[in-house]
Amino acid sequence: MIHLIGRFFGFLRARPLSPTEQDEVACILSPPLRRLFYRQCFQDQRHAFDVARRVGDHPELWEAALLHDVGKSEVRLGAFGRSWATLWGATSLPVWGRWRTYLMHASRGADLLERHGAGCSTILFTRHHPGPPPRGFDPASWDVLAHADES
Ligand SMILES: [Fe+2]
Repeated sequence: MIHLIGRFFGFLRARPLSPTEQDEVACILSPPLRRLFYRQCFQDQRHAFDVARRVGDHPELWEAALLHDVGKSEVRLGAFGRSWATLWGATSLPVWGRWRTYLMHASRGADLLERHGAGCSTILFTRHHPGPPPRGFDPASWDVLAHADES
């Protein structure tokens, strides 16, 4: 719950990437993946960039950090809509429409990334976060990404 509150206020106070930060993104992502990155609203770009910063000395994880929430770009929901959808998703009640699309962002994002040539770690982290690492994914690397995403 505290994590959710942090996300809520993080979304509200996010600022767009600066030109220097955009240059950093350009150094990490191929042109097709860069286009996916910029499909995200600026708040999600900021979150992804901050996750990449927290990943720090693990450049092999930067792509996953920048793109792990790209599935959220398939639905436009504000801070309140996202929070309500997440809370609703924690129940066993049925969900439709934009909330359903939002709650499926992990698998939708992973499918998008597969189609655009992302790396295996990026696709796997996107598909399986925030759960445990899938078989074949280095648990230490998973922890780095997961911790950076939750901070
Ligand atoms: Fe995230």
